[in-house]
Formats: sequence, C-alpha cells, structure tokens
Amino acid sequence: YLNYCVPRTRKEIFETLVKGLQRLEYRGYDSAGIAVDGDKNTTTDGINKNNIVLIKKNGKVKALDEELYKKDCMDLEVELDTHFGMAHTRWATHGEPSALNSHPLRSDKNNGNTHSPNSKGYEFESETDTEVIPKLIKYVYDNREREDLSFSTLVERVIQQLEGAFALMFKSSHFPREAVATRRGSPLLIGVRSKYELSAEHIPIQYNTGELCSPLSDIITLQYGKAVEYYFASDASAIIEHTNKVIYLEDDDIAAVVGGKLSLHRLNRLAGEVPVRAIQTLQMELQEIMKGNFEAFMQKEIFEQPESVFNTMRGRICFDTNKVILGGLKDHLKEIKRCRRLIMIGCGTSFHAAVATRQALEELTELPVMVELASDFLDRNTPVFRDDVCFYISQSGETADTLMALRYCKDRGALTVGVTNTVGSSISRDTDCGVHINAGPEIGVASTKAYTSQFVALIMFGLMMSEDRISLQTRRLEIINGLRILPELIKKVLTLDKNIKSIADELYEQRSLLVMGRGFNYATCLEGALKIKEIPYMHSEGILAGELKHGPLALIDKHMPVIMIIMRDACYTKCQNALQQVTARSGRPIILCCQDDPEVSKNAYKTIELPQTVDCLQGILSVIPLQLLSFHLAVLRGYDVDCPRNLAKSVTVE
Ligand code: F6R
Repeated sequence: YLNYCVPRTRKEIFETLVKGLQRLEYRGYDSAGIAVDGDKNTTTDGINKNNIVLIKKNGKVKALDEELYKKDCMDLEVELDTHFGMAHTRWATHGEPSALNSHPLRSDKNNGNTHSPNSKGYEFESETDTEVIPKLIKYVYDNREREDLSFSTLVERVIQQLEGAFALMFKSSHFPREAVATRRGSPLLIGVRSKYELSAEHIPIQYNTGELCSPLSDIITLQYGKAVEYYFASDASAIIEHTNKVIYLEDDDIAAVVGGKLSLHRLNRLAGEVPVRAIQTLQMELQEIMKGNFEAFMQKEIFEQPESVFNTMRGRICFDTNKVILGGLKDHLKEIKRCRRLIMIGCGTSFHAAVATRQALEELTELPVMVELASDFLDRNTPVFRDDVCFYISQSGETADTLMALRYCKDRGALTVGVTNTVGSSISRDTDCGVHINAGPEIGVASTKAYTSQFVALIMFGLMMSEDRISLQTRRLEIINGLRILPELIKKVLTLDKNIKSIADELYEQRSLLVMGRGFNYATCLEGALKIKEIPYMHSEGILAGELKHGPLALIDKHMPVIMIIMRDACYTKCQNALQQVTARSGRPIILCCQDDPEVSKNAYKTIELPQTVDCLQGILSVIPLQLLSFHLAVLRGYDVDCPRNLAKSVTVE
C-alpha cells in the first residue's frame, strides 16, 4: 500500500494493511508479516538502521495485528505524507509455519555489511525458497559496479534469473518510498485511488528492447496530479473497499511507482502483444466479501446458491426461444463442434463438477468426454492433439496444477477453454476462450457455490452445442425448464437445514462417514465426502454404488454411518439393490431421496427428502445437504469452518 501525498497516520496505514490481509486470509493463514517505515533515529529492536521495521508473527492475522500495537518504538499518531508499507499472509509450503518463515523476507538482517562465508556470502534466515529472491536482489545491487541502477531495473535483472511462479513486491531502504512489483504465474493487481478523475483507460508499456536491462528512461506514466494511493494485491477482495479501478499485471510485467507516478515496463515486446494494460473497473461489491449475519463464509455461500446459480444463467438463457448463448464461446463453437473429444481438467471440487456433468455433456454434445485430475493428467503425459478441446475448470483460475495442464495442452495445439469464477485470473486470460461462472467471490476455503455454478455453466455449454440437433430438442427443453426453476428448488432444499443439523448432532462424534450413489449422483458422493474431510476433518469416502460388492461392502455393519443417494432416475432400481445389500448387513443408511418415496423411506434409518428435478440437474440439489452437513459437523466438532487446517483457498504451488 503506497500513499503518495495523501497524509495518513501510521495507525491508518496499519489498519489498511491489516484489513487487506484479513480479506486475503482465506487464501492462507498460518503466519503473517508487515514491513513499514520506522521513525527516524530509533534504535529499538526490530528497526534496522535504514529504518524499515519488519514485524512477523506465527498464527492468524489477528495475532500480527495485536503485535503491531505492542511496538512502543513507533508513534502511531504521526502523520506520514508519503509511505509504502507491505504485508503478507502465508500458507506454508517450503518451511514450517513460523514467524521466521513468514514474509516479507529481507535481503540482510544486518542491513548490508556482514557476509558469512556460505554461497555468495549470504546468510539465510528462513527455510523458505522465497528468501533466495531478496538475497539475489542484494547480490545484484552490491555488484552493480558504477552503474546507476533504478529499483525497477534491479528487479528486472533478478526475475530474469528466477524459475517458477511468483508475485513479488519490493521495498528497499536504498529507494525509500518507491514500490516495485512483478509477477509470473501468480496473480497481482494494482488498485489506484485518487481524488482526481482517471484520465486514462490504459497504461502504455515501456519496453527495454535492445541492450538488456538498460536503465529506464522516458517512462510513460499514469499520473493523477499529486495525491494518489496505490494498492498492490494478489486478489481484488483485499482492496475493493478502497477502489474499484484496477490494472492486472501480466507475466513478467514490472510495475514501478517513483515519485507517485506508476509506470509499467517489460523487457521485450512479445509477438502480437498489445502494448498497454487496461485500467478496469471491478464490479465486485464490498458486501459480497463480508459475512453478514452468517457464522462463516462457507455457510453464507451455501445459502447464496439460489442467487449465484441464477447469476450464472443471467442473460445467457432465453427461456422464450430456448436459446443458450455463452458469449465467451460463441465464436469458437464451430471449431468445438468439429473436435475429436472434449477433455475436462480440474482439481478437487472443480474436477467433481466435470464428473457431475460428464454424462449430460456426452449426451448433448455427442462427443467423447474425458474427465481428468490435472495432476494425474500431467503425470501420465496424456496424449493431446490439435483437434482436442480442453476445458480448465477452476474457481480461482490460479490453481498451479490446472495452469500447468493448460500450458501442456496449449503447447500441443489444442483449443483451450476456461471455466473460472475470477475475472482477470491466469486461467481466464491464458485460455483461447471461456465462460465466467459469475458466482461472485467465494471466500470460504471449502468450495460450495462455485461447484453448483460450474455445474450449471457446463450444462449450458451442452445446451449451446445441441441447439441444432433435432433429435435432442425434447431433452433440451426438459433441461432448460429444469434450469428455469432451479433457484426456487435450491431455496426449498435450504429449508432442510434444521433437519440436517439434527443429523449432524447424531454423527459428529463418528470417525468415518461413507457416501454412496451412482449415475448422475456419483459426483455428489465424491464432492460430499471431500467436504466432510476438509472442514470437520472426518474420514469420508465417496463410493460408486456399483462398486459396493467389489470391496466397500466389507465396511458395512450397524456402526458404520452411511449416506445413500437414491433419486428417481435411470439408476433407481440399481440403487435400491445397493440399499438392500447395505440393510442386509445391518447397515443403517441415511438416505437422500426424492419427496414421497415410501419404497426407499421404509428401508432408511433417516431420510432427507429433496424436490425432484431433471435427472442431470439433480446433483445440484443433492450436494447441498452434504455441504450443510459438513458445515454443521465442523461447528459441532469445534473447528474453524473458514480456516480448515493445512488448506488454502487457492493452491498456487504444485
Ligand atoms: C474443495 C476445494 C478444492 C478446490 C481445488 C481447485 O472444497 O475448494 O478442492 O476445488 O483446490 O481449486 P480451483 O477451483 O480454484 O482450481
């Protein structure tokens, strides 16, 4: 956060940074840190001689926040005319969660002079791989000879030597109140706030062609008169309360703020690259990322599903003409129709959305549909051809495995299609075309509303593909009518919350929970079991009912809690067989079934009765009780629903 000629007290600066971190905490929360300019001439511990104060704390952002006010070395009421402070919340990958391993990381704890005799003379403080970067920038700076290097040129030289994904902010005592940011693979955006009207719609890029790393001159700038504030963040939710004007950086862009002016530059112009970055206006509202009256974001997002699913369809389905138009795909439709097969790629819940819609897509597109877990797809070096169409399903649009699978398929010439919930995300930008699911920001680590919106978006794709197939018109109409009333049916399912809470009351002390089903509801079993693992930390397995007698039946006895999904669809009789097998082994199944089904109810220990809809949409309704169950189980077991241990919202590492 950089305020230039906008007087702010240090307390306000802390509050801005901490609030931003809290909004991002859902993405990682095992430790946090902050770096701000200290008061002049203070020598208290924690302040180095060039006056950057680094405060880090193990645990949640709240712990860091409390720590800030313990530092009596800093005057909180002092007004700072220009100030650049940075803060970070971490999800441990390399190195355990600890204050030392948390970020920001520094180039030199002694500020410059003592080198130990290890590699290049630098002493590492943490166990993180990230620390190589501040050490490297110091190395480049120390070895600059007589060159007068700008801060951004230094950063440019550093990133040329880095491999892998990163989003970086640099603050330096050598370049006080200057900010430099860059990214590759991980997201980074810049929010701009000024009391002056924005005069520009784009920022031009300055290229360093010719001599590598020549110092920047003639920087074309974005300038708003004097007073301006810049917010650099990995996610728009951190900054939305300050500004909705943002610039998304592309891979290897370097953004620098010097003297209050923002400039963007790159080493070389890539073939076909547009030499500007747009200043976009975010549509996100602050209230969308607030919890309101709900106990947790996960709960809020489960209850938002009537609206989120509606928003996925809004403006895309014409219920009068039965036309479905996904604007982001329409120009590629011919090419998609000619393809050899569709490959659906994702991780976790997003993968389950592919499993859930596979059968409907096979039916509506009349194409072979493969569903792939991104990590496994890459492990297998799966053959991919120019006439394949590959879908990348991802709420965040930043999942590393999915992104790598995208690059893998692009290299092989396939057409790539993104299905994401995050405008400006890497997947939405790197794919040839795509669908934005419009579910609104999903903050709860457990994905809920994104799943049902991905489901609907993929079904809409199937409907769009089948528009001119005469033999499919009756089926299309049935599905479109099902979609029309879907938000109302979801509302009805949500009224079962009390019933589901009472089931959770019975189950919460159990160690294990099996979820069984088949056909259109198999994905619900996988997704329900995932929810039960990740939030209440209970062992849970999604079992294909057709596989019951091939092994899982051995687990069944009167003690093993089992949830069975038995809906009135083509698999109804087969599911009843599975039910018989379970009850014959003294199992006491809780059954998710359609309303008024005495045949199934009579064999159930308990039932959760759902409204019936078109078979291929039923999974949208049947997953909601399991989302609610996961939430209630976690609360009853005393866990933090929005911050499950060891997990983070977007998994940007392999
Ligand atoms: C589960 C969950 C994860 C994500 C997975 C992929 O509740 O949230 O399994 O679905 O990490 O994330 P995205 O969809 O962002 O690619």
